Amino acid sequence: MGYTVAVVGATGAVGTRMITMLEESTLPIDKVRLLSSARSAGKVLQYKGQDIEVELTTEDSFEGVDIALFSAGGSVSAKFAPYAVKAGAVVVDNTSFFRQNPDVPLVVPEVNAHALDAHNGIIACPNCSTIQMMVALEPVRQKWGLDRIIVSTYQAVSGAGQSAINETERELKEVLNDGVNPRDVKADILPCGGDKKHFPIAFNALPQIDVFTDNDYTYEEMKMTKETKKIMEDDSIAVSATCVRIPVLSAHSESVYIETKEVAPIEEVKAAIAAFPGAVLEDDVANQVYPQAVNAVGSRDTFVGRIRKDLDAEKGIHMWVVSDNLLKGAAWNSVQIAETLHERGLVRPTAELKFELK
Ligand SMILES: NC(=O)c1ccc[n+]([C@@H]2O[C@H](COP(=O)([O-])OP(=O)(O)OC[C@H]3O[C@@H](n4cnc5c(N)ncnc54)[C@H](OP(=O)(O)O)[C@@H]3O)[C@@H](O)[C@H]2O)c1
Repeated sequence: MGYTVAVVGATGAVGTRMITMLEESTLPIDKVRLLSSARSAGKVLQYKGQDIEVELTTEDSFEGVDIALFSAGGSVSAKFAPYAVKAGAVVVDNTSFFRQNPDVPLVVPEVNAHALDAHNGIIACPNCSTIQMMVALEPVRQKWGLDRIIVSTYQAVSGAGQSAINETERELKEVLNDGVNPRDVKADILPCGGDKKHFPIAFNALPQIDVFTDNDYTYEEMKMTKETKKIMEDDSIAVSATCVRIPVLSAHSESVYIETKEVAPIEEVKAAIAAFPGAVLEDDVANQVYPQAVNAVGSRDTFVGRIRKDLDAEKGIHMWVVSDNLLKGAAWNSVQIAETLHERGLVRPTAELKFELK
């Protein structure tokens, strides 16, 4: 017998990739159910060449569902994920809503699959910018320890959903085809839908992803800080992030500076990263080989290069990390969690409901 798998947010930038990842998955799947809001209910999507009608998400949607992949925003997960667990499903949640809940494992399978063993029905998938940094840094942490991380991101617009992709394409056309000055382009969504002002992304770089918190960092930046500590199970790692949106459609790039606990020889760092599952070393500057966003699109891997010693700090190392935010940053990491749950015999109903039904 195979599983019934539900995708909540199936019509979105991540949800559509989840369908592709399920098509290519090793999971035994009998049936796929696709869910959305009323806007897309009734629309027909394809799974393995079969037409599947998109259903409206309700409290009763999860009867008979074994695995529910959520990617429809935090409020949708907050409302419906507990009903999915109550109905006997295991939820893999791609939103930020449950990530810091102590009853919820936050998992990058290559890094902390062991955290799945204690799940209570909901597993959180980390933020896209955090996931790729974890894949690059875990092999370094394992061998030499990590004292601090300073990261600057160059993030693709698809990280803000399908509407941000549409907005970017429209703005670029207005500038290139109609001769509009980028300053005069009208923006409705970026830097983020939840803030008061919106700015053009065409020919621009916006140092704001998500809204600001009380300490002048954005939520996206604080996600990188808090999620790193939770995934690596070490609150002593110092993490500061500056998250920047750039006019790239898919694949996030990151300039990562780390200080290790022990001195780490650069050639050994490269070898450790090259040997780590999910990481691909692209580092040959003599031949101009380094990770690039355009090459990462469509791949499940995380590409790491430009690995070099800091000029002054003995334990300081710089690197450049690139991955497809919609795949390893979201859809693939979620389906990979589901595959790992299956391999470990952890796809099963939860005895005690630890999450509030709203
Ligand atoms: N994009 C990324 O790189 C990325 C990475 C990691 C995590 N995430 C997280 O994943 C989630 C989805 O992101 P996205 O980029 O795919 O967004 P998106 O393109 O805007 O898609 C949103 C999806 O959610 C559905 N939805 C909206 N309101 C709903 C409701 N009330 N009930 C049921 N479904 C509803 C939409 O359905 P309709 O078609 O009916 O509107 C659509 O399928 C967000 O929480 C985001 O933070 C995104």
